[in-house]
Amino acid sequence: MSDEARAQVVTEEEFGRLSDFLYRRTGLVFGAAKHYFVARRLAERMAATRTGTFAGYYALLRRNADDEIEHLINAFTINETYFYREDHQLRCLTGDLLAERVAGRPAGGGIRIWSVPCATGEEPYSLAMWLLENWPPVDRYEVEIVGSDIDTAALDAAEQGYFGKRALMRLSDGLVEKYFVDRGNDSWRIREELRESVHFSRVNLMDAGETAAQGRFDVIFCRNVLIYFDDMSRRLAAENLYECLLPGGFICLGHAESMSRISPLFEVCRYADAIVYRRPWEDRR
Ligand SMILES: C[S@@+](CC[C@H](N)C(=O)[O-])C[C@H]1O[C@@H](n2cnc3c(N)ncnc32)[C@H](O)[C@@H]1O
Repeated sequence: MSDEARAQVVTEEEFGRLSDFLYRRTGLVFGAAKHYFVARRLAERMAATRTGTFAGYYALLRRNADDEIEHLINAFTINETYFYREDHQLRCLTGDLLAERVAGRPAGGGIRIWSVPCATGEEPYSLAMWLLENWPPVDRYEVEIVGSDIDTAALDAAEQGYFGKRALMRLSDGLVEKYFVDRGNDSWRIREELRESVHFSRVNLMDAGETAAQGRFDVIFCRNVLIYFDDMSRRLAAENLYECLLPGGFICLGHAESMSRISPLFEVCRYADAIVYRRPWEDRR
C-alpha cells in the first residue's frame, strides 16, 4: 500500500492510540483536526520500518526497536523557525535584560542563555550574532549560549549549520556576508566561529531531570512550542523552566504565548520592546 493510501485509512482507534502515545512522551497535542497530519507521518514511519499493519508498528514502537520512539518523535515535531524571528525580544535582551543581569557583576563573569526549543539552530545562532552586533560589553563576559530540542534530527542540522534562503530572509546582506559562507545553490553555512559558540543538547521540556541537567540560566528563550501543548503540559514545562532560572532570571515566550495564563510562579515585566517573565529575586532556592 502506498504512503498516500495508508494515510487515508488510519482508523479513529489507531489515531487515538498514536496521539496518546506521543502526548505522553512529548506533551504535544494532536487533536482530531490533525488526523491527516498524523496519518501521513505514521504512514512514513510504517514504510521506513517495513511494518504492514498498525498493530505491528505499535508493537515495534513499544519495544522501541532501532530507537523507533526517537524517529517517531522526530517525524512529528514542527521545526518552523528563522533567523531574527520576533527581533523585538532580541532588542529587549540587549536593551534591558542583560543590563539587569550583569549589574554589579565583575567583568569576566558568566552569562548563560538558553534557547529551548531551538529547532534547527536559527534562534541560538541569532542570539550569538545579535550579541556580537548589538551588545558592546559582550567581550567583558563569558557568554554561554545553549540550544536544546527534543528532535535529534533538528539538532544534527543545527550543529551542521547549513541554511537556505528562507531561514535568512530577515537578515541584511551585510550580516549574511559577515556570518555565513555562501555555498551556492541558495545554501549558506554559518561560519565556524559562530558554530563553535553555541552548544546543543537534547532535552524534553516535559522531563524535570533532563531540564535540570542543563543547569541554571540568566535568560531563557522558550518560543513557539507552548502553543502545541495542552494546559497540563504547559504548566509542567513552565515549572521545569522555572527551576532552570537563576533568581531574577528572565524567560521570553513567543508572541502567541503568555505565562500569566499558565503559571503564577513568574513576575510579569513590561519593557519598551517586549513583555517578559521573571523568576522573583526573592526566590533564591
Ligand atoms: C516551532 S519550533 C520553535 C523554534 C524556535 N524556538 C522559534 O521560535 O523559532 C518548535 C520546536 O519545539 C520542539 N519540541 C516539541 N516538543 C518538545 C518538547 N517536549 N521538548 C523540547 N522540545 C520540543 C520541536 O522539536 C520543534 O523544533
